[in-house]
Amino acid sequence: MSKVISISLSPNTQKDDVSLALKLIFTTKKDGVRKLERLFRNYFGFRNAFAFNSGRSSLIAILKAMKIGAGDEVIMQAFTCNAAVNPIKYVGATPIFADINDDLNISVEDVEKKITSKTRAIMIQHTFGSPAEIDRIKDICLKRGVYLIEDCAHCLGAMYKGEFCGSFGDASFFSFGRDKVISSVYGGMVTVNNESLIDGVSNFQKEIKVPGVFWTIQQLLHPILFNKIILPPYNMKIGRGLLAIFLNLNILSKAVTKKEGSGILPEYFPKKMPSSLAYLAINQLKKLEEYNNHRREIAQYYNHLFLKGDIDENNIYLKYPLLVDNPAKVINKLKKHNIYINDGWSGSPVVPASTELDKVCYAIGSCPKAEEISKKIILLPTHINISKEDAKRVFDCLEDIRQNK
Ligand SMILES: Cc1ncc(COP(=O)(O)O)c(C=O)c1O
Repeated sequence: MSKVISISLSPNTQKDDVSLALKLIFTTKKDGVRKLERLFRNYFGFRNAFAFNSGRSSLIAILKAMKIGAGDEVIMQAFTCNAAVNPIKYVGATPIFADINDDLNISVEDVEKKITSKTRAIMIQHTFGSPAEIDRIKDICLKRGVYLIEDCAHCLGAMYKGEFCGSFGDASFFSFGRDKVISSVYGGMVTVNNESLIDGVSNFQKEIKVPGVFWTIQQLLHPILFNKIILPPYNMKIGRGLLAIFLNLNILSKAVTKKEGSGILPEYFPKKMPSSLAYLAINQLKKLEEYNNHRREIAQYYNHLFLKGDIDENNIYLKYPLLVDNPAKVINKLKKHNIYINDGWSGSPVVPASTELDKVCYAIGSCPKAEEISKKIILLPTHINISKEDAKRVFDCLEDIRQNK
């Protein structure tokens, strides 16, 4: 049987991550968070770094430090995840959606149309590792006296005009979620450039609690169970059945819960980063350059196969986007070849597609381009466990589907 190719089944996990996770279940090491923050600061040359248990908690910390709340508006792009929207709702503010460009990033022109006297911040996303038009958005922020937030959940290591993404916002946040650039299953980081916000983020980090021990063990089990138990038999029904059982029994966590589709965050946000997950993140951060070089290499190879030009070296290609006529059909057909590319980023301007748009303040028709693209997009894997042969297999299957073979 052919190898399972997947985009989101613990994509960054390697042997050393599995043995580390096993060790961390049985040991208590308390100093992980400070070590991770120090490594992160030094790696990127950021002045400060504050770890949290997710991008969601990180964004809440930023919004609280900015004193954004009821009556305030935050402009963000459509074609986003409800995980990026709900923290804004959590603090009582209203998310206002701006449309996107072909590069899947926020449209400056639409931001200009949607800005009002209630706008307190503009959040840019750098979708799938591709830097947004930071300078133009920053100009608007400076002119209008509103904050710039960089959502760097997809773009750890991506560059804009010679500097790392995350260097430009008043505050920026990153995610170490299970299918992000590096992964500690759950985890996030804030860096603050606007000095007036540093104490706010730091105090918020001190105030909140560490998640419970059970929650932390649940995350440590993720790389172990995926690598050792779920993935090996995934192309037989048994692997998929085991995954469903582990999720149902709460032995494994979900990346985004069902309730979040109705605009409600679970009680484990906002929380501190547990020390053991910080150790997982440290192990992964040391591999960041290798991971991103590999992603660029695979993206360049896809470009070659699809007869496109050279890749953008500033982009880290977390995933490789492609527009097709009927994504649901393509995703289903690929499954028959043991290729699993459904990561939820399709079918709605706020993903996953099960999200109730009214509950996340999205008005249908307000961002036509994002709606159109979300009906056509599929994403191809570029992560460290994907070889060029795998990429070629994905391409060949897509060609067969296109020619209706
Ligand atoms: C664009 C974007 N922003 C923010 C987040 C939130 O990050 P996290 O899953 O670490 O809470 C996610 C991921 O879910 C995301 O895709």
